[in-house]
This record gives sequence, C-alpha cells and structure tokens, in this order.
Amino acid sequence: MQRREFLAATGALTLTPRLSAYALERTQQQGDEYDSFAKLAANENPYGPPESVMQAMTQAFKYANRYGYPDGNIVSEIAQHHGVKPENILLGAGSGEILDVAGTAFLGGGKKVVCAEPTFDSVYAHATSIKADAIRIPLQEDYCQDIGAIVQAAKRYDRECGFIYLCNPNNPTGRIVTKSEVKTLLDGVPADMPVLIDEAYHHFVESSDYATSVPYVLEGRPVIVTRTFSKIAALAGMRLGYAIAPAELIRQMRPYTMGSINALVKWGGVAALKDMDSQANTKRITLELRKKTVSQLAAAGFKVIPSEANFFMVDIRRPVQSVIPRFRAQGVLVGRPFPPMTQHLRVSVGTADEMARFMTAFSGIVT
Ligand SMILES: Cc1ncc(COP(=O)(O)O)c(C=O)c1O
Repeated sequence: MQRREFLAATGALTLTPRLSAYALERTQQQGDEYDSFAKLAANENPYGPPESVMQAMTQAFKYANRYGYPDGNIVSEIAQHHGVKPENILLGAGSGEILDVAGTAFLGGGKKVVCAEPTFDSVYAHATSIKADAIRIPLQEDYCQDIGAIVQAAKRYDRECGFIYLCNPNNPTGRIVTKSEVKTLLDGVPADMPVLIDEAYHHFVESSDYATSVPYVLEGRPVIVTRTFSKIAALAGMRLGYAIAPAELIRQMRPYTMGSINALVKWGGVAALKDMDSQANTKRITLELRKKTVSQLAAAGFKVIPSEANFFMVDIRRPVQSVIPRFRAQGVLVGRPFPPMTQHLRVSVGTADEMARFMTAFSGIVT
C-alpha cells in the first residue's frame, strides 16, 4: 500500500488537515493574544533586535542545514570584548543554561549554594532538582543583599558550600551590590570557593558605585561572571548567554553544557557586540521610562524600591497574587510573586505605550 492510500484508509488523510487547521487556529489565537499584551513580566527588551543584528541573523540562515558552519568567531569576539582569552569563555543557550551548568558542576553530592532571598530563583530551583540545596540569606531592610551574612554563611558552611550566587543588579529588586561590597565578599569568603556573579542587567546600571566583576577573573580569582544577550540585546527568544571565568572553572563546567546554541544567534550575538549605539539607545529610553513611571507611582503615594535595572518593584500594600490576574484581564502582564516580598509587584520597563497601559491598569486596580 502506498503511504497516501494507507493514510486515507486509516482516516489520517482526512483527519490531519482538520486537526492542523484547529491547531493552527489555536496557535494563531494564542499568538494574537500574546501580541496584544503589554509584556511587563520578564524584563525583556521590548524594541527587538536592531537592524544590524537582524541582518546578521538573516544571512546566517544559509547555515540552517549545517553542523560545522562558520560561527562568526563568537567566542573570540566575546573574549575580545571583555579583554580575556577564549579559554575564559563558555557559551550557553541563555545565561540560564550557565547557571544550571554551574549548579551541576559545583553542587554534586548535595552541596549548597549560598544566595540571597529573593533573587533570581532558577539557581535555587536547579539546586533542588539535582537534590542539592540553598542557604538563602534574607535581604536587608533596604532590600540590598546582606554581604556580611553571605560571607559568614560561606565561611561557616565552607565544606558544604559548592558556590556563592550573587545577582548584580539583583532580580527582582533591581538593587546593586556596590563594587566595594563585591570586594569585601571576595576577600572574605574562603579563597577557593567559586563565586558566580550574574550580571544579566549590567547594561542598565548608572550608579558609579557599581562595577563589573570581570577584572576579578583576570586576577585569577574563582569568579564566574555571567552575561546574557536576552536583556539589552533583545535576543531572549534566540537563547545566548555566556560565562567569563578562569580557564580551570570553565573546564569544570564545559562537560555539562548542551551545545544547543543555534547558528542564527551566534551571528546575531557577534553583531550585537558591535552595535553599542543601539544598546545605548535602549538604555537611555528604558531608564527615562522607568524614572517617569516611578515618579508617577510615587506621586500616587506608592513606594518603589530604587532600581538600577530595566524593572522595578512597587509596594502595593496587598498581596500581588490577587492583582496579577486583574492586570492580565486588562491586557497587562506583570511579574510573578517573589516570596517573601509578596506585596511588591515587579514591573518590567516596556515601551512608552506599554507603560501608559500599565499606569491606567494600576490606577484602576491598585489605587
Ligand atoms: C538575573 C537573571 N539571570 C539570568 C537570567 C536568564 O536569562 P537567559 O537565560 O535568557 O540568558 C535571567 C532572566 O530573566 C535573569 O533575570
């Protein structure tokens, strides 16, 4: 029996198009609904990749059918961008992959990661999934990370602790760890303990008290800095991030990476590193809109945690869980709850139109 006859005989030929049309319709609806939302829940860049990056990715489509294609020398380009060697770079399908890889590499045997609470909790979630654990250090009253307590915990649990995770600026609060605090931490913890410093939101910081921790890698300290193309570079859906670390730590982590980075984003990443103007523009507009929205909220009597990132937290004086669906019903997606800060709503900075829609929804729902 020919394949076509077989399909007809089993009804598949008539069923499949009907099912596909249905599936397509559903996908379409979901897509349309998604497009219509003001997407203020995931700290993305709402403007999308600039023309330079789109062009580079479009040209890379010619490699879609290949394995061993030229990759734009993405690793060397990143290394050069930071003044390190290619052996100091590890690529991941998003920096989220690097966080998982660090967990797998350093938390074996049920070791613990020391981190703040709340922070970007994928580190904690991964630790749990591999039957490791976290020592979570509450934020201070000003919502900054408690560096003294992190150092103490790292010393106290030296043997059990696999690495320290420091998100700078911290997600969800947007608060930075100052450069002098980073030094205090690195000088205070056991000298061979890996410290992963997640700089996903590095590009949005204005404060002169902040600095990247890449120079510590050059000093040879056991520091792993992670960066992502998902935020300022607008490539969240394309998945590219990386670690910058001493070669020995990269060597320990590399076996756990999946190598699932696609050809398009490798070329897109190279182009993004060369298009600093567009990143500067995104930073400028984003910070302007953040400041405008924050002052509107302050004028309405709400306290906002000072943020150095492309999101902020506002104290809505009631559980955020109760308002998230109401924002959604008005077409505005806002951040999930971040226990124990259950009355603080995390809002990403979107376009001017999205922020106006947020403020309209906010005045109806919260005030
Ligand atoms: C602090 C932080 N680190 C890492 C990530 C992971 O980003 P990606 O895997 O897209 O690079 C995020 C995403 O929201 C984040 O907020």
